[in-house]
Amino acid sequence: MLFALALSAFLGTIARAEPTTVTVQFGAGGKAISPDLFGIFFEDLNDAADGGLYAELVQNRSFEYTADDRTDWHALTAWETVTPEGGEATLAAGDMETLNPSNLHYAVLSVTKAGGGIRNEGFGGIVLRAGEKYDLSLFARQLDGAGGPLVARLENKAGEAIGEARLPKPDPTWKKYTGTIEAKKDADDGRLVVLAEGTGKLALDVVSLFPQKTFRNRPNGLRADLAQAIADLKPKFMRFPGGCLVHGDGLGNMYRWKNTIGPVEQRVEQRNLWSYHQTAGLGYMEFFQFCEDVGAKPLPVVAAGVCCQNSGQRLSKKWGIGQRGLPMSEMPAYIQEVLDLIEWANGPTTSTWGAQRAAGGHPEPFHLQYVGIGNEDRITPAFRERFRMIYEAVKAKHPEITVVGTVGPFPDGEDFDAGWKIADELGVPVVDEHYYKPPKWFLDNLARYDGYDRKRSNVYVGEYAAHDEKKRPTLRSALAEAAYMTGLERNGDVVRMASYAPLLGKLGRTKWDPNLIYFTNTRVVPTINYYVQQMFSANAGDRWLPTTVAETTRNAGLATSAVRASKSGDLILKLVNTGASPQPLRIELAGAGELAQDALKTVLAGDPTAVNDLKTPKPLVPETATITAGTTFDYEAPANSLTVIRVKSHAAD
Ligand code: AHR
Repeated sequence: MLFALALSAFLGTIARAEPTTVTVQFGAGGKAISPDLFGIFFEDLNDAADGGLYAELVQNRSFEYTADDRTDWHALTAWETVTPEGGEATLAAGDMETLNPSNLHYAVLSVTKAGGGIRNEGFGGIVLRAGEKYDLSLFARQLDGAGGPLVARLENKAGEAIGEARLPKPDPTWKKYTGTIEAKKDADDGRLVVLAEGTGKLALDVVSLFPQKTFRNRPNGLRADLAQAIADLKPKFMRFPGGCLVHGDGLGNMYRWKNTIGPVEQRVEQRNLWSYHQTAGLGYMEFFQFCEDVGAKPLPVVAAGVCCQNSGQRLSKKWGIGQRGLPMSEMPAYIQEVLDLIEWANGPTTSTWGAQRAAGGHPEPFHLQYVGIGNEDRITPAFRERFRMIYEAVKAKHPEITVVGTVGPFPDGEDFDAGWKIADELGVPVVDEHYYKPPKWFLDNLARYDGYDRKRSNVYVGEYAAHDEKKRPTLRSALAEAAYMTGLERNGDVVRMASYAPLLGKLGRTKWDPNLIYFTNTRVVPTINYYVQQMFSANAGDRWLPTTVAETTRNAGLATSAVRASKSGDLILKLVNTGASPQPLRIELAGAGELAQDALKTVLAGDPTAVNDLKTPKPLVPETATITAGTTFDYEAPANSLTVIRVKSHAAD
């Protein structure tokens, strides 16, 4: 113990005596970096959409769950009959004379004694807050019997009614009924009950309950706290809807954007290849709207006319095994679907698809700039042929769109090389690289893009994450990512975009770890990695400044990046110390005459094995303080830390 103290004091003395000089060069030699560098990647994985970001509180609202989603699921999953006050009822699924051709099933409630009804448990309980209002809607049709008015009730787990709305007696034809319910008490595990006051057979479909308080109060909107956590990342772009979800588990499971717009009851629901269900309630209008709300450029990704190479392995072999291409006879229509997406996003309201956007409530264009074609596909002849067809059609009709291609699932190897070859041949503007690797890989590859040929395609690092032991999102993994991100900034002339993956994971429902943000029905739990992403994104610059770090024996774990934000004129210095000792540094800002003395220092530091989770009493978060900077100043980067120093410009004074 004494020896350790003495050694640390000795090392401390040396450290104080010999700071490592970090010189940031202002004048010549800098380079412009992408304004879109740090963004997010959303995939409906780990219950990220239904039961997650999408604020719908009713599970299986359209009675469209099937055993294809999950072997133990069926049309009535998450529903049960209730018979309070002496009522009698049974429940079955109906599939004749449906609400519309997209909506294949509904519930049939047969009430033999008035007072029977159905109850939905939500996604593991419905969170209700006293004084908050909830919008209820449902489609109903009296199939036979006298019928009577309906009562929609919010209940807590004990069965106590804590809010109620009355709806009129349903017609014999499908009709939508709506009401507003105010919760009188809090409940974390509430339920929605719909009771029939009359007898007879009643058909019910699309039974929906939304909090009025969604993100930006949008109807059919997003869960406010979760959406806010994403907005706080200040993403410059958002890639959606996946991932493997895009190309799908077999050709029949591809994500088709047209199925996800328009009134929710008309959207086409389908199996989620991550072994659950997608209602498409969070569809393309909602994705684009969210992008607009948070100031992120939308980056929709469409399948390259082939399904996932892993098809048939996860759940059902029914859709085929391995990668398959859409039949050539279907390709013209598929290509048109991609062109229609661009028209839907950007076209005038007088165009066919621009009019659809306007009908959905958004007459202004969305200013779509990027479209991704393909997601880490195996680069087979089937892929090549279809990618080329789609790419050339988009380029010919929409030269203003920047296409993002794909170079396989890994950071090197056969598909990577073949993907780059296609990109070279076709001149694809941007290609999407993916890697999930241990922290050490990231640290060993800090210079990956230093040698990239600037005349080839730009890079979108569309999916990356440092996977630590047991896939835990530790500080160690977060700092490996931070160090790597300094390399992305340094190469921000060729790396156009980057996004950590995946974004969301519902605790207890994850199929993939780690994720950037964990959540439950009531809590949002950002990982330490989240704060790294936030520190980089909120402190992005548009000009990279050359930085030299003097060679010493002690600075092996140091990675730096300096950028200028020309709007504010601020200099932003990022210092990552992945070493186990503090790093005393002398910062020299050469040629930065107009910079102020005062600066903001934000530091994320701690035990490298630290993880933020539900049980963490004090989550590890960045701490901000004011420091005195100037053109030369000393700073000691703590062991295992990321520091962002933002030196204010006089220019803005
Ligand atoms: O991010 C999770 C998955 O990883 C994505 O769906 C896929 O593209 C990759 O394999």
